[in-house]
Amino acid sequence: EAQLQTNAAGHLSIGGYDAVTLATEFQTPLVVYDVAKIRQQIRDFKQVFNEENINYAVSYASKAFATIAMYQVVAQEGAHIDVVSGGELYTAMQADFPMADVSFHGNNKAYAELEMAVDAQVGAIIVDNFDELAMLTTILAAKDTRVNVMLRLTPGISAHTHEYDQTGQTDSKFGFDIESGQARQALDFVLANDRFQMRGIHAHIGSQIFEVTGFVAAAEKLVATIVEWRDAIGYEPEVINVGGGFGIRYTTDDDPIPASDFVKAIIQAVKQATATNHLAMPAIWIEPGRSIVGEAGYSLYTVGTRKVVPDLLPYINVDGGMGDNIRPALYQAKYEAILANNPQAPTTRKVRISGKYCESGDILVYEQDMPAVQTGDIIALLATGAYGYSMASNYNRNPRPAVVFIENGAAKVVVERETYADLVRLDRSYL
Ligand code: LLP
Repeated sequence: EAQLQTNAAGHLSIGGYDAVTLATEFQTPLVVYDVAKIRQQIRDFKQVFNEENINYAVSYASKAFATIAMYQVVAQEGAHIDVVSGGELYTAMQADFPMADVSFHGNNKAYAELEMAVDAQVGAIIVDNFDELAMLTTILAAKDTRVNVMLRLTPGISAHTHEYDQTGQTDSKFGFDIESGQARQALDFVLANDRFQMRGIHAHIGSQIFEVTGFVAAAEKLVATIVEWRDAIGYEPEVINVGGGFGIRYTTDDDPIPASDFVKAIIQAVKQATATNHLAMPAIWIEPGRSIVGEAGYSLYTVGTRKVVPDLLPYINVDGGMGDNIRPALYQAKYEAILANNPQAPTTRKVRISGKYCESGDILVYEQDMPAVQTGDIIALLATGAYGYSMASNYNRNPRPAVVFIENGAAKVVVERETYADLVRLDRSYL
């Protein structure tokens, strides 16, 4: 909480802008991003690579928050993006994002999505399986063109917040298995067809990870795979992509290491493993999503009704909930709430903060000390920038919130609040 800013009015300040003013100007529920924080995260990642003189790409995993404005900021910062659907690719095109800096991921890319990516000449299609290779072969022949590819591998390593598992095979829906020889088979397939320009190998081990050990193991596994391929057929891919997953602070219980420290550990692991094996240093790509946008995002809500029953935790009901942030309901994710109109008020009791959706599971904060909260108060949920708006729905036919970017003291709407008319836009009468 030390990093929380309070202004002269005694209100929460987000990027120099009064949170209560934001709620008045743009209504609630509202998603707000402090854009300086987004830029800083990207710059911190890049700085580590630059200091170490490593060939690299910071590829923002845009599933965490994908909008035209976000893609524009990422382009301004000279980072890449990864997209996982035709919809994300389309949005990036609408933002004029440089297609050479786009990687296209996914375990079940449709034929039409692959055609779209080939036509757009994306920087890399990260191929996931043999059926995709077959579809691409057909598409490239039909269009008489070429495309850059990377191979997604399952390294046999999966990481959780504080530990990781290492197994022979990973029972994952993603990627070519290394252990059983699938990865090598995919490589041979790609190298045999010069419409494929093979660029590198990829592995992603998990999300919201707090330890470097899993990343180090994955990096070592990728280097070991290159060594195997070099020794077998004299081929060395130029890029190692170690995925994303760097953990962030949601509440004061979380104590993550700085995101850039993950990158330092990965670089050291690759340096050491390549030196030991007399291998040229490959380029290192990372794909952070959560760590770029998570802590930059805030959700503002207005308190409506309350329910207080003796001996039970009071319910403080706000005007949003699982429709704009499903993470607590889906993952029991923890968030911290701030009374935005008086962040310094002393806490008086434990409460839970619940939404307006017709479901008991529609909780945003399961239990937290709060000051006395009145109807009309503004509550800010912290660190909601990743997988909040991007997983939003219209459940109960609630319009999705507006999204505002704050930078240099100015607030700009980058996604309009949905209207009731938007909700029925695609409905057709049956009469
Ligand atoms: N690269 C690949 C291939 C991925 O699958 C993911 C996330 C990332 C990068 C980015 O991971 P990050 O740096 O954001 O942890 N909806 C869940 C998270 C799903 C993550 C899926 N893949 C949540 O709200 O926690």
